[in-house]
Amino acid sequence: MNGGITELTIRTGSPYPVWVGDGLLRDCGELLARRTAPCTVFLVSDDVVAPLYMERTAQAFAAAGFTVVRHMFPHGEAHKTPETLMQLVEHMAQAGLTRADIAAALGGGVTGDLTGFAASVYQRGIRCVQLPTTVLAAVDSSVGGKTAVDLPAGKNLMGSFWQPFAVICDCETFATLPPAVYADGLAEAVKYGVLCDPALFARFEGFSRGDATADLIARCISIKEQYVTGDETDHGKRQFLNLGHTPAHAIEKCSGYAVSHGSAVAAGMVLMARTSERLDYASEAFSDRLAALLARFGLPTHTDFTARELSDAAVSDKKRRGDTLTLVMPRAIGDCVLVPVKMEELERIFEAGIDG
Ligand code: NAD
Ligand code: GLY
Repeated sequence: MNGGITELTIRTGSPYPVWVGDGLLRDCGELLARRTAPCTVFLVSDDVVAPLYMERTAQAFAAAGFTVVRHMFPHGEAHKTPETLMQLVEHMAQAGLTRADIAAALGGGVTGDLTGFAASVYQRGIRCVQLPTTVLAAVDSSVGGKTAVDLPAGKNLMGSFWQPFAVICDCETFATLPPAVYADGLAEAVKYGVLCDPALFARFEGFSRGDATADLIARCISIKEQYVTGDETDHGKRQFLNLGHTPAHAIEKCSGYAVSHGSAVAAGMVLMARTSERLDYASEAFSDRLAALLARFGLPTHTDFTARELSDAAVSDKKRRGDTLTLVMPRAIGDCVLVPVKMEELERIFEAGIDG
């Protein structure tokens, strides 16, 4: 067993462990065996991650006594769809998976969201283990239990809250990430600094590739845990985690999902920071500092879509309640507030934040 493992507990209705460290895919069978008797693990990966990591992961589960069934699907947001979900669930049924068994998501946020959702609906719910292999999945999507697929009408419109049974994060897998995918994860990680941790934000200002170490990932997860605990279904403090996400989801949708989630979150956060300064929510000027950090990571800091296009796209945002949507307004690095706005105000708010 690998020596350096950080263990966190996510204190949801059924608390679960998050194990973070280097080389943990080789230990995943032993770690899971701490929590459950041997059963079948339905191991899901996309066609980029599977050739890289599926074999060693399957071997580790098998060595600990688990039976492994493999499932692969085509990579990318374009495949986070009901059709891919149906193929996955159908394969679960053909493989004879029962409610004693486990689905395991080995990959980025797309794999995690898709597999988590499949686990939540197959036989009305089986356990799911998340094995994140992107920085984004490690710091955000693998923890907290939001699962979904996209519909033509909008992003993540079909989904569930389904907390994982365990999360096993092997930071060594980040070494094979393309630079743009690596940077996407940094956008969500920087978000935690803007939300509540100026020291974390400053740490990112001195960051270079390879610094996404277990302790940094664990710090991000522990911040996420504070927002999820006590508000699993996103009606209260968890909404803070949506910083930048209202414009981000609109950007993703307007681009036909050509703009990745992390890149859209980067542009969305800067847009909200500019809005905050121009509409006098901000307590200090901070948007240039935020934009400079994100730009250093190669992330976009503006969008070419118009305020009208973005506000039209935000109509299908699932954060909308009737004619109101709660925006996360950053006031300074480490200080944000929730601001409910009417849908008809959204275009003006986005307009204020768009450069030019
Ligand atoms: P992704 O899963 O599409 O992964 C990005 C690309 O990297 C894919 O092509 C994948 O095959 C590849 N990849 C993954 N791991 C790799 C590795 N170690 N080495 C080489 N290539 C690798 O995208 P993502 O950025 O991880 O996640 C984005 C998705 O996550 C979006 O669908 C977003 O909506 C969702 N998300 C969900 C939550 C949540 O709380 N559930 C939070 C944030 C984002
Ligand atoms: N990614 C936002 C959340 O989990 O609530």
